[in-house]
Amino acid sequence: MITEQSAICWKAKYQIGVARIDLEHKLFLRLVNSLKLALNKGRSEEVLQGIIDEIELYARFHFTSEENLMKAIRYPDYEEHHWRHNELLETFRIKKLNHAGFDSFHQFLVEWFIEHTTVEDIRIKRFVDDHNVNIEAFCYDIQEDTL
Ligand SMILES: [Fe+2]
Repeated sequence: MITEQSAICWKAKYQIGVARIDLEHKLFLRLVNSLKLALNKGRSEEVLQGIIDEIELYARFHFTSEENLMKAIRYPDYEEHHWRHNELLETFRIKKLNHAGFDSFHQFLVEWFIEHTTVEDIRIKRFVDDHNVNIEAFCYDIQEDTL
């Protein structure tokens, strides 16, 4: 069973306030937790590598989703934010090539999520609020309660 210490739980400070992004972030955390759970259970390297692959593909999907939203609302710091996403994917790729330990991979993902969400992603929400952007008009329907 995943323990309190090993799981990264959803906290109010991770909440951006844009339903679509928050939903995708929650799923990202679940994937990161599934890596830790598999580690705790002593799963094989093949299984752990499979989860890493899932996380990488999910991150690519989520970044594209977030970037589409930023473009739609004409977010002024899109380029910098896009660069930060690419930086993560590049670090991810290098860690895979170097066969970074799975524990270190997990720690990297947790730290990156907290830092990026609370520093970078929250700025999207500030822009939305400061400019009275009707964010729902730019989000296609992906309501949590329909899943
Ligand atoms: Fe982001």
